[in-house]
Amino acid sequence: MALMGVNTKCLGLFLLCTITGHSLEITVNPPQDFEILDPGLLGYLYLQWKPPVVMEKFKECILEYELKYRNVDDDSWKTIITKNLIYKDGFDLNKGIEGKLRTHLSEQCTNGSEVQSSWIEASYSVSDEGSLESKVQDMRCIYYNWQYLVCSWKPGKTVHSDVNYTLYFWHEGLAHALQCESYLLDAEKNVGCKLCNLESSDYKDFFIRVNGSSESEPIRSSYMVFQLQNIVKPQPPEFLQIIMEDSAEIRMKWSTPEGPIPPRCYTYEVVVREDDISWEYATDANDMTLKRKANESEELCFFVRNKVNIYCADDGIWSEWSEEECWEVYTGSDSKIIFIIPVSLFFMFLLLLLCLFVEREEPAPTLTFRVDLNKEVYSNGETLC
Ligand SMILES: *[C@@H]1O[C@H](CO)[C@@H](O)[C@H](O)[C@H]1NC(C)=O
Ligand SMILES: *[C@@H]1O[C@H](CO)[C@@H](O)[C@H](O)[C@H]1NC(C)=O
Ligand SMILES: *[C@@H]1O[C@H](CO)[C@@H](O)[C@H](O)[C@H]1NC(C)=O
Repeated sequence: MALMGVNTKCLGLFLLCTITGHSLEITVNPPQDFEILDPGLLGYLYLQWKPPVVMEKFKECILEYELKYRNVDDDSWKTIITKNLIYKDGFDLNKGIEGKLRTHLSEQCTNGSEVQSSWIEASYSVSDEGSLESKVQDMRCIYYNWQYLVCSWKPGKTVHSDVNYTLYFWHEGLAHALQCESYLLDAEKNVGCKLCNLESSDYKDFFIRVNGSSESEPIRSSYMVFQLQNIVKPQPPEFLQIIMEDSAEIRMKWSTPEGPIPPRCYTYEVVVREDDISWEYATDANDMTLKRKANESEELCFFVRNKVNIYCADDGIWSEWSEEECWEVYTGSDSKIIFIIPVSLFFMFLLLLLCLFVEREEPAPTLTFRVDLNKEVYSNGETLC
């Protein structure tokens, strides 16, 4: 930087001033002792450093630090400009973390020009105990109806029969990582965890670690970091209704499911079927008016699913589809009814007989409960907190 007026200030400063030809070049030292510290909070790391060497009499110069960091292999760096000597953020500990840091000189010390130091770098990765195959597979977490979190996994590929896994979690507000208290079991092994009462933890990073122990081998840990509001799977909409406004227009209505999610946070996908043709619609309201495609259609059905919308979260998981609601044209002919009534009476009679029979023969069935990870056992609110 070519500056003539600063040379008196420069000399004793932490800046190194060199005369190159006719111009004066100001440089500044990088910060010292840059390191990435892991306080054991499952991914919440401290990036910290010490200021560059500064002479007493130039303390009035304000130093700023430019910090860049990312998980190794990420495409882009996060950039922070700060006057502090520490910065804290959440990381995915499955991968390494790298950071770089340099000093910025405030403009009043350089007469308006930009002066930065060279970069210094630091990196961090958790010590890799155990083989990759020992780590849990297919780990996923769903925050059902914004009420309770269920994380599930499958055991590693090569683990011995004595392996059992444990889940730890941490979020801002907890003094240290806590272990899961309510595991989901399959053949006496932990294959998931259910966490309740997390009301104050959305819109913050939520950290998970699943590690394990075995007599025969060390087990590699698996980490996850997410924000609860972004993995919400709501209950499907209820009380679907079709209202014929007139012969050409139909109105469809449904109710938002019960629970803590405010109605304004939903977006919906609606499938309307007129006879054999289906259409899909998207809406943020819980009703919709449509023109019928054909006057003579005899059957009109619709079903809905919902998801948390972009005003309340960055992402979400679609609910299951609701039940289907149908409207049928009354054809005027009674022939169907005349046929249906005796037939259904007959079947009801049969059913009644069957019930009586079963009640006598069968002892009370014993209920068995198994966690089937392919089915959404926890999706329908039966297992509330
Ligand atoms: C800053 O630079 C301007 C011209 O570029 C000069 O007039 C002024 O004296 C300088 N100020 C200081 C504090 O060096
Ligand atoms: C599992 O992780 C927790 C939390 O970080 C830790 O306290 C515990 O020692 C770990 N257990 C094993 C067996 O590595
Ligand atoms: C639908 O019905 C209206 C009157 O009921 C009629 O004017 C119109 O031509 C019909 N359209 C179709 C596509 O059948």
